[in-house]
Amino acid sequence: MKQYKIRSDYPERSDDPLHSVNVTVNGQKITRKVSPRRLLADFLRHELGLTGTHVGCEHGVCGCCTVIIDGSAARSCLTFAVQVDGAEVRTVESLQNEDGTLHPVQEAFKDCHALQCGFCTPGFLMSIVSQLEDSDSELDLSDDGIRIMLSGNLCRCTGYQNIVTAVRQAAERLNRDQ
Ligand code: FES
Ligand code: FES
Repeated sequence: MKQYKIRSDYPERSDDPLHSVNVTVNGQKITRKVSPRRLLADFLRHELGLTGTHVGCEHGVCGCCTVIIDGSAARSCLTFAVQVDGAEVRTVESLQNEDGTLHPVQEAFKDCHALQCGFCTPGFLMSIVSQLEDSDSELDLSDDGIRIMLSGNLCRCTGYQNIVTAVRQAAERLNRDQ
């Protein structure tokens, strides 16, 4: 598993009593003391330096902050860092392969021009990866079915059609279209 540069110099500024959190992030075991009010999104971005997770609305609407917690997509702006004690968290940084090649979902987004400014893209990627990797789930790869898959994420730029196309292409590459 690829190792990620994790920041170790972030000062904890809160006066709150700190809680110990043991969490595996992108395959790397991490133990930190965090304030109980520290959001997972802020923990990932500011304490671990994993800034691929974006923060948009900060109240669970836009999906920009989506990460995968124990295999399921979750809003990191609505999750406290203490809640992931003992969990496995994946961020968008985990998608790129060791050799620098992209995950099939990233490739499909690139090939289908499924992003413009890219702000929403990490959230879309993690949401789609979690759904395509769930081999127990039945996928509906019709346009309507894919739009339901995407319904937890908002994009202000693309008009969505290219994202729909990218999801179908990614599903084909991952053999989820059969
Ligand atoms: S920043 Fe978390 S859902 Fe918008
Ligand atoms: S590509 Fe700009 S918000 Fe989605």
